[in-house]
Amino acid sequence: MIRLPSNPDPKADEGGPAEKRVFIKSYGCQMNAYDATRMADVLAPEGYAETADIAEADLVILNTCNIREKAAEKVYSELGRIRELRDAKAAEGIAMRVAVAGCVAQAEGAEIIRREPLVDLVVGPQAYHRLPELLRRPVTRKGIVDTEFPAEDKFDHLPLASRLKTRARGFSAFLTVQEGCDKFCTFCVVPYTRGAEVSRPVAKIIREAEELAAAGVREVMLLGQNVNAYHGLGEDGEAWTLARLMRRIAQVPGLARIRYATSHPRDMGDDLIALHGELPEAMPYLHLPVQAGSDRVLKAMNRKHTADEYRAIIAKVRAARPDIAVTSDFIVGFPGESDADFEATMALVREIGFAAAYSFKYSERPGTPAAERKDQVPETVKTARLAALQALILEQQTAFNAGTIGKVVDVLFEKPGRNPGQIGGKSPYLQAVHVEGPASLIGHIVPVKITGIASNSLAGMLVRPDIRSSESKRFNSIVA
Ligand code: 5AD
Ligand code: SF4
Repeated sequence: MIRLPSNPDPKADEGGPAEKRVFIKSYGCQMNAYDATRMADVLAPEGYAETADIAEADLVILNTCNIREKAAEKVYSELGRIRELRDAKAAEGIAMRVAVAGCVAQAEGAEIIRREPLVDLVVGPQAYHRLPELLRRPVTRKGIVDTEFPAEDKFDHLPLASRLKTRARGFSAFLTVQEGCDKFCTFCVVPYTRGAEVSRPVAKIIREAEELAAAGVREVMLLGQNVNAYHGLGEDGEAWTLARLMRRIAQVPGLARIRYATSHPRDMGDDLIALHGELPEAMPYLHLPVQAGSDRVLKAMNRKHTADEYRAIIAKVRAARPDIAVTSDFIVGFPGESDADFEATMALVREIGFAAAYSFKYSERPGTPAAERKDQVPETVKTARLAALQALILEQQTAFNAGTIGKVVDVLFEKPGRNPGQIGGKSPYLQAVHVEGPASLIGHIVPVKITGIASNSLAGMLVRPDIRSSESKRFNSIVA
């Protein structure tokens, strides 16, 4: 049974909501990170303030991911640890509620509560705007499951003022413009957990971008499972492409940088490619997953393009913006992948030269076509292929980073650095950069000369400490 806290917040007596704490842990992709901020937004008017300390939480939300096996397993082991904490708090008469949100919630539904009765509430990625209502329902032993795809737009159910309060956390923010996927790659659960592709209307996105800018945000990352398939209703009643949307967002005062992820090669339109050479606010960075370099595997994955088509897209993008950082995702050990197929992936990587990449062992996802295949690749083979691919990618990443040494790049400073007197930020190529500099530069975009590389970041020095923010909007690329 859940008991009320023994020392209710004094505000409760004044009729205001009692001060409660919510701890949200997010797994997986950037869209989940964005969803976590939206959950905090929707809970703020209910009297929930976010906490980074799980021990003081009245409500714990695990915002889960099930794109690969281990992600779901991690959630179950985390729930085990939470159970100990909750029991210890219950012994002191303090209640703690536990919710599982995100894609594991969507895929497993009530199964989560069967496997881990500690969980009070299971809420899918399309239903989290209903959290306040779900939390107000009486607590039952059976728990509450909401994995509907409601007809109403969840984005319309967010309180404005609190959104700013909770989101004004930094100078770079996520903004979901598109959600869901109709591509049905044979390995992937996303079309089942996130549902069909939906683009938000331009006007709503612009309003959110303006709010973010007003809260001090300088850089937005436009999110979507297939972000470059964006086709939202424009201000003129037409369907707008992502490129058109980006040109419009670039007009929002204060926003100096625009990024987008994740893209599909099939939707890499010519206008989007051209934009990279034309719009200074479009950062020279493209995350374009290819998954594999063998046409046979690409076909079996239902990727709907060949390796040569991918090469051609990258060539066009580089013609438009020669310095662009290209990154990708890879899956090794897809069912039926032979040594020759894997070699084709290695050859593609060698040819393209990536600034960074994520690579994964294929993981069987129940309900997806590839999981049914009998020709699964042995774990040892997957391990060896992953190690070879990751070594090659690391080499390329190091080479890309080394290539910026001696150059001047624009850095958006976001936080104090690791050591006192240092500040840290991001280059246009999404590299972490640290310099010796005053904290007053945090929130500004400043040209920095790169002097060296460390394992996960670049070291640099301020070249013109007098240059700030809007002035430095011109410096969006390497200028020396
Ligand atoms: N196994 C391994 N990796 C996967 N990904 C998606 N589904 C699977 C799977 N079943 C990877 C893809 C995708 C990234 C987000 O996760 O590379 O681009
Ligand atoms: Fe999954 Fe393929 Fe859709 Fe990406 S494009 S979300 S990999 S189904």
